[in-house]
Amino acid sequence: MALYIPDEKLAEIRNAGDIVDVISARVFLKKAGKDFAGLCPFHAEKTPSFTVSPEKQIFHCFGCGAGGDVFTFLMKYEGISFPEAVEAVARQYGVVMPSADMSDRQRQQASEREQLLGLNRKVMEFYRDMLLGDARGKPARTYLKKRAMAPKMIEDFGIGYAPPGWENLIGFLRKTRQSMVLAEKAGLIVPRKQKNGFYDRFRNRVIFPILDVTGQVVAFGGRVMDDGLPKYLNSPETPVYQKRMILYGMHAAKSACRSKGCVYIVEGYFDLLAMHQHGLNNSVATLGTSLTRDHIRRLSRAAGSGDKKAYLVFDSDEAGINAAKRTIGAFLEESMEACVILLPSGHDPDSFLFEHGPEAFDKIAAKAPNLFGFLINNAVSGHGLGIDGKVKVIAEIAPVLGEIRDSVARSVYIQHLAETIGVDESAVLQKVRQLRTNLSARSPAAPQPGLKQGADASEDKIQNNPRQADRMEMQVVAMMIQYPEMIAEVEEKQVLEQFEDARMKELGGEICRIMGRKAGTASDLLHNLGDENQRQLVASVMMEEACWAKQSCLLLLSQFIQCRQRRKNDLLQQIRAAEQNNDHELLVKLLSQKQKQAAGRR
Ligand code: CTP
Ligand code: MN
Repeated sequence: MALYIPDEKLAEIRNAGDIVDVISARVFLKKAGKDFAGLCPFHAEKTPSFTVSPEKQIFHCFGCGAGGDVFTFLMKYEGISFPEAVEAVARQYGVVMPSADMSDRQRQQASEREQLLGLNRKVMEFYRDMLLGDARGKPARTYLKKRAMAPKMIEDFGIGYAPPGWENLIGFLRKTRQSMVLAEKAGLIVPRKQKNGFYDRFRNRVIFPILDVTGQVVAFGGRVMDDGLPKYLNSPETPVYQKRMILYGMHAAKSACRSKGCVYIVEGYFDLLAMHQHGLNNSVATLGTSLTRDHIRRLSRAAGSGDKKAYLVFDSDEAGINAAKRTIGAFLEESMEACVILLPSGHDPDSFLFEHGPEAFDKIAAKAPNLFGFLINNAVSGHGLGIDGKVKVIAEIAPVLGEIRDSVARSVYIQHLAETIGVDESAVLQKVRQLRTNLSARSPAAPQPGLKQGADASEDKIQNNPRQADRMEMQVVAMMIQYPEMIAEVEEKQVLEQFEDARMKELGGEICRIMGRKAGTASDLLHNLGDENQRQLVASVMMEEACWAKQSCLLLLSQFIQCRQRRKNDLLQQIRAAEQNNDHELLVKLLSQKQKQAAGRR
């Protein structure tokens, strides 16, 4: 049956379906990080090397190499044709009624989420009424005035007040017939220890609702208005509030982040509000916890697809700076440049802005050093550059370097550190290697796709060996898939023309055609490949965490070109030598190699 399925329909069906759903109906899958893993249905195995990525909507087996998207899976597993597979997914997800196939458990989770969010919103309004429309709110109004908070900020950020007393919110919940069980789950009330019943978590505090990126109320924070302790009290983690995901102020910052391509990351509630009040509305706050990889991923998405920058704003507090070290790798992987703003001692953004104004802040921002340079300087000013000092600086920075997964970026940073403190690159390299060996010794289980290991070689000096060059061809192809914005660069530099592996070259050409000129996705590419090996390669590349900075991409291209150039020169020299020595046999061999190279360039 030759069924024609228009591209838009295909995309619609693909978007409607979920590969994890489809596969887990057939293969037992267990969560493994952000992916799922199971025993591969396509070859016999005892340990799971079959991986499904919900994010990328593809599967890949590290054992047998099988891979593809939801349609490929069904074709292979059920032994059906492509149109049949598409039909099956369409039927299962009946684009008309997509929720019909939700399991009971999924339905239950979705509705609990809805209920929690609905309750939180009502509670936000309750606290807001207490602040603005109730006599009991007077002390809080006075406090906010003292802190120079503009009425517009109070309104935009839904700030409120929880009056003193143990059952104010509970009274409201009763009156409006809310479920106490739900309110407890939302972290709003706490069960009493001695007797039955609950009490309000937030009492006599200014309340800051915490909204997610879409503007849903997911949690609350409350500040005392005197020197009481704890100064801040926050909602516990709940099904709608995960601290590692949420940044305070994100909903109000996201469009400014996109239009400005940069974001300020501050620590506290009042800091965030002061930033917005002073027009620096591309700001978010971590609320005193450390910045996570998930935070950074979200910020990077919010900042759009161009060059993007994050400013970590610190008061001169040691703990924050120490925590920032661990974020270097994540910023690199999210293609975000990270800079550091260190405020004059005694100031946080809130106090600084009210005392010196946003222009003074801008001035500091304009000179903000990048995070890595900042860390080096910080270490150097702590340890000095004596022999002992240098050893300590390396010891302090090497762990940061060791955690950078992108090997190209890692070697660039290693070089940078060596140059800055005036030591031999190999000294730093050795220390980092040692740490990385320990690192991988600690986590032996993870299956490593071939490409990752290949990528590690660029840490060493690029040499003239042919295996190295082939690995680089593979890296270039991987880069093109993961970073389609680099395709133009590849074409302009005529990189593919210098490929020697015919299959890689053909694949590269397809990538240019489908993902470059037709601006398709990696899934589109997958569909257009007739060759099983090519499909497997693409699926395995898609499965990898893309973690290169643009600089690294450019570096790879220039190293590849250099490598090829060197090889060409080498060959010419060998030919000349063979001619002089009248070594006929060798000459024939070399000339045929040269011909192969030239063929690559046609
Ligand atoms: N924080 C917290 N719990 C605490 C103390 C702090 O959750 N007991 C979080 C809050 O989000 C706070 C941030 O850490 O805003 C920074 O703390 P800190 O610098 O102590 O307070 P400020 O934000 O400067 O608060 P303020 O200006 O109101 O004194
Ligand atoms: Mn403060």
